[in-house]
Amino acid sequence: MKIAVLPGDGIGPEVTAEAVKVLEALELPGLILFDGDVGGAAYKAHGHPLPPETLTLARECDAVLFGAVGDPDCDNLERHLRPEQAILGLRKELGLFANLRPAKVFAGLEHLSPLAPEKAAAIDMMFVRELNGDVYFGDKGTRQGKDGSREGWDMMSYTEKEVTRIAQVAFRTARAGNDKTRVTSVDKANVLETSQVWRDAVNAAAGAHPDIELDHMYVDNAAMQIISHPERFGVILTGNLFGDILSDLASAAVGSIGLLASASMGERQTAHGLFGLYEPIHGSAPDIAGQGKANPMATILSAAMMLRHSFGLNAEAERIEAAVAAALGDGIRGGDLGGSHGTEAIGQAVLERL
Ligand code: NAD
Ligand code: IPM
Ligand code: MN
Repeated sequence: MKIAVLPGDGIGPEVTAEAVKVLEALELPGLILFDGDVGGAAYKAHGHPLPPETLTLARECDAVLFGAVGDPDCDNLERHLRPEQAILGLRKELGLFANLRPAKVFAGLEHLSPLAPEKAAAIDMMFVRELNGDVYFGDKGTRQGKDGSREGWDMMSYTEKEVTRIAQVAFRTARAGNDKTRVTSVDKANVLETSQVWRDAVNAAAGAHPDIELDHMYVDNAAMQIISHPERFGVILTGNLFGDILSDLASAAVGSIGLLASASMGERQTAHGLFGLYEPIHGSAPDIAGQGKANPMATILSAAMMLRHSFGLNAEAERIEAAVAAALGDGIRGGDLGGSHGTEAIGQAVLERL
């Protein structure tokens, strides 16, 4: 079992280090970790945010554990050299089109949410976000606009095939979650042609899944209802941009972005399971980087998702998740949750409860 560890920038290395300690503590036979440079750190060392050797390393491993990329020093670089291009490049080059982002309140931890306890208790949704298309990967540029001023443009598009394959992931995920047979597809079909193709393709794909309860919701309404009626959601199927925004929104409802993990997968099978990239949904948090304040739980929970999805190690994944829940239950909280525990103290608390 080979894992590429790509810590990246800002708090990325801090949170990844704690997740690595958790993985090592499990003493999994045959586990080998390899380090690679990515993001602004890779740009500074090699002149590129995703150096070829990092991409090769990722391809040669069975899974990738990713921290975060993004560095204010790099915000004025040409777009193709910015740190964020590294994660976009990995997702695209590795064919990782399906991004799973669970947003769930652990039982007994409803008080971490800003929502009323009975609403918080109902938060148990899984975002299935398309990751290889949408406005992220369309043609883009700047030009002189019709009014004579500078104009930026980004092309949004989805093909039926792209929508069908992510819809199938959502339906399979809903079935696996048994209590989550409801799929809500989120789009903006009242305005966007891209979304009309999306909606039609989702409906067509649903024909083969009569057991799934499918509904459609406009993205603005979805943003409202995720907060006001979280109990209405099971699997939320959506595109790249809407999924990015709605999953950060849901993290606030759970209590903190420092708690939300993710898995990004495609179709490639390894000798151990499905190849995947695992990362917290948050970024490099330059405002708190280098201060030992970041909550590593999202990254630790991402490592648990790795064990489950890429290595079939469900019991070990559950051990990690239970240890995180126990640490939170015992009052171990980072500043993001109103507590005062630092990154290493939180990591240590999880290790002690494994
Ligand atoms: P961010 O997620 O990095 O931070 C948003 C806020 O949440 C900040 O106040 C931060 O301190 C806080 N926060 C985030 N993670 C935390 C944690 N684990 N513990 C405690 N607090 C945490 O979003 P941003 O500020 O918009 O972006 C910063 C940089 O990260 C940008 O360069 C952005 O492009 C990049 N980014 C990268 C990824 C990724 O690598 N996948 C994801 C999102 C943003
Ligand atoms: C995320 C991030 C990325 C995204 C950025 C850094 C490219 O916000 O992983 O959620 O938009 O997908
Ligand atoms: Mn995001």
